[in-house]
Amino acid sequence: MQDKRVSVAVAYHSGFGHTETLAKSVVNGINSIENADGVLVDVTGLNGDFAILNNADAIIFGSPTYLGSVSGPFKMFMDETSKVWFDRGWQNKLAAGFTVSASQSGDKMTTLVQMSVFAAQQGMIWVGANDMAGNNSSAGSVEDINRLGSYLGMMAQANVDEGPDVAPPNADHRTAESFGKRIAEASLRWGKAPATQPQQLEATA
Ligand SMILES: Cc1cc2nc3c(=O)[nH]c(=O)nc-3n(C[C@H](O)[C@H](O)[C@H](O)COP(=O)(O)O)c2cc1C
Repeated sequence: MQDKRVSVAVAYHSGFGHTETLAKSVVNGINSIENADGVLVDVTGLNGDFAILNNADAIIFGSPTYLGSVSGPFKMFMDETSKVWFDRGWQNKLAAGFTVSASQSGDKMTTLVQMSVFAAQQGMIWVGANDMAGNNSSAGSVEDINRLGSYLGMMAQANVDEGPDVAPPNADHRTAESFGKRIAEASLRWGKAPATQPQQLEATA
């Protein structure tokens, strides 16, 4: 009988705790789905050991937006996966991403684009967000789920003068939980990541 239990890793970097607190909400969302296990992975503590990520059926990437892109430590992690890329080690796993910035826009779309290109290079299957955009009509409010109206991935906003105990606000944590549920459910539908053989790259004469 096929093992239906899936493992969804949340691989994140956080400089000041805002991304980390969101990552925990994403994991809570994953764990609320039967047969899904969320695993929190701080990418700065991996030291090149990708065993947890290799064994995950889906990986959700999380990074703050720094100067309109992923943070430096998150990019270091991306670059450290070049051997995984060469071996096609993560191909056919599901991938998704989230980010937080201080400004309402903050150019954080670029961060999600960067993550989705990274996932595509790894041969992963990118899954976007599916909560209808909130706070975009006279009936809307900042309390709405998906108040920033993002579909490529999950977006949050944290005021610069507030710590991770209060920022991002509750609406973003609810959005993060919902995002975790979506990726867990997608992972259960997609099934276990198929075991893959490293591709043999042959030199042409
Ligand atoms: C070096 C640096 C660059 C930043 N660049 C941006 C930016 O481009 N846009 C923005 O809205 N916020 C920017 N911020 C604010 C962070 O995105 C925001 O404080 C976020 O909540 C930090 O998440 P963290 O606590 O997980 O590191 C920047 C912060 C730092 C430290």
